[in-house]
Amino acid sequence: MDSSRFNTRLLSDIQNSPTPFHVVHRMSGLLLERGFKRLHERDNWGELGGSYFVTRNDTSIIAFQTTPQNIHSGGIHMVGAHTDSPCLRVKPNPVINKQGYLQLSVEVYGGVLLNPWFDRDLSLAGRVTCRDRDMAIRSVLIDFGRPVAMIPSLAIHLDPDANHKRGINAQTDITPILLCQAEAKTHDFHLMLQQQIERQHKNIPIDKVLAYELSFHDMQAPAIIGLNNDFIASARLDNLLSCFIGLRAFLEADTAPAKLLICNDHEEIGSVSGSGAQGDFLETVLQRLAGSDEQLARLTDRSMLISCDNTHGIHPNYSDRHDANHAPILNQGPAIKTNANQRYATNSETGAYFRQLCEQAEVPVQDFAARSDMRCGSTIGPITAARTGIKTVDIGIPQFAMHSIRETCGSRDTEYLYKVLRHYFSDTGPLRHQP
Ligand code: CO
Repeated sequence: MDSSRFNTRLLSDIQNSPTPFHVVHRMSGLLLERGFKRLHERDNWGELGGSYFVTRNDTSIIAFQTTPQNIHSGGIHMVGAHTDSPCLRVKPNPVINKQGYLQLSVEVYGGVLLNPWFDRDLSLAGRVTCRDRDMAIRSVLIDFGRPVAMIPSLAIHLDPDANHKRGINAQTDITPILLCQAEAKTHDFHLMLQQQIERQHKNIPIDKVLAYELSFHDMQAPAIIGLNNDFIASARLDNLLSCFIGLRAFLEADTAPAKLLICNDHEEIGSVSGSGAQGDFLETVLQRLAGSDEQLARLTDRSMLISCDNTHGIHPNYSDRHDANHAPILNQGPAIKTNANQRYATNSETGAYFRQLCEQAEVPVQDFAARSDMRCGSTIGPITAARTGIKTVDIGIPQFAMHSIRETCGSRDTEYLYKVLRHYFSDTGPLRHQP
């Protein structure tokens, strides 16, 4: 496979998915193109056999491919990832006029690394919910798709200690600027949204904007960088990289075992929501696939989840932040993540299985464990395992600058991840229980 072509497609998927709504919209489109049928949770699904997907809240998606036979004989091979990334969200009454500038007040979503948000060309995107001219409430996705705002740094002359001491106050220091002078005073934010909807959705007659979930994102396009093109730089690599590579592996694997891909929203804020991993989305889909409690228990025991989320690659300038023996390096393959306190769901059996998959797919594999004196991150892995009882391994490719507005990963790791996930989705044997 041509690695630069592989990455070009991935980067285009990520660039065109500025919010979880857009991620799910894009994934749905790719699934429809491949002949998958859209199911709705409110409908009767009847007997299922074939290729389907279902979404919840427009921000979480489950795709699955089964036959009535393979689902009960072999269990389901699942991959999980998350659709959300840390960002700045616009508040409900956001308009601020200060010194003649129009600003929008924002709230920090997730663990944003705030420094890199300064001096970026920011666009605005998300879901807007409106009343149409028939008085029906409906939602549409918008993306201004151009730099409509920025958060300027304070000059070093006005803060000589900036390089040693500058902290960032989330209420006062990161309010984006959109306009200056006269227009700022009379600005109608809802009208501005309505005009954007009219530009993007010409056939939807909007009466009024009622509410929205909008966030800012960086307009800088993703790029392949480094003297030898070793790196990928982009927003939202955590975790759209895993979503789109997971989807591609899912679509391109052989159809033998039953398989499922789940991408949840709200991982970055703890997963507690109807569409997050602590919600019952996966559980209810599995229940409907299994048919009865007895069948569900058997299906669960035969199934497996690879929870796929990027991990921290060791940074040469800050190498003491890693445990030296568990410090993944970019372009040396995905890492198996282990934590004794179950911040990662990996156990010796699921870890061993993933290691073997890598061996069979000829993909290098590494290990990640946090320093014992530092807090360890987490993923949807342990949460999903706790809710469903499914055997789970947490893995992910290493990256720099997690939760920055521009993250970096290795340009060869993307294909390594694809190869091992594709092999897993096609693998017919190893989930079977030993006699
Ligand atoms: Co993540």
